[in-house]
Amino acid sequence: MAEDTPDTRWFFLCAADDLANPNAFVTTRVGAIPLVAQNIKGEVVAFRNVCTHRFAVIHDAASGCGPLRCPYHGWSFDAAGVPVGLPFNPTDFQLDAEGRRRLALNPASLAMCGRLVFIRVAVEGPGLEAQMGADVFARLAALSNRFTRRGELIDLDPAGERIETANLRAVVAAAALRLEALPPPGAADRFARAWTFHPAHADAETPA
Ligand code: FES
Repeated sequence: MAEDTPDTRWFFLCAADDLANPNAFVTTRVGAIPLVAQNIKGEVVAFRNVCTHRFAVIHDAASGCGPLRCPYHGWSFDAAGVPVGLPFNPTDFQLDAEGRRRLALNPASLAMCGRLVFIRVAVEGPGLEAQMGADVFARLAALSNRFTRRGELIDLDPAGERIETANLRAVVAAAALRLEALPPPGAADRFARAWTFHPAHADAETPA
């Protein structure tokens, strides 16, 4: 059985629509390891948010829209993590295709629960549903598929249905779902986030 460490745990990152647009990205950190999920030409992928050239953090912002490009020497990376745009490569780096493949970013893992995106440092390990428990997984998936319309952040009655799993707190009311992502272990408070979602249609039923 895989050892339970922060590296093998799933952490809630964002809603799927946060990564729906080309170049959208969301970052977090697990301990000392920065992570990024990024839409690259329609494909959502996850890596350690660390350039393989001189180990700079690639995206410093908690979220945004911009290519997966290192701010230092401008290397940009494709959906496999391979550096494909290297300014001044002929004179400064002289990397051929094999050399660039060797400098691919370190992959991380992504998993979905309904419309919720979770991220993990380790490439191998238990699945999200196994880690969360089948009942919690099914409930969160159903809620996320019902409450799809993002609204202004509001507080909900904490006495309502409440789900806590991984670094996620979900509070459910008839007309809204509030999600709070707490920073993973070792991450700064700036990686905490909160959202309120409403049903896509005002007359939709709360899933049982
Ligand atoms: S440190 Fe990232 S391109 Fe050089």
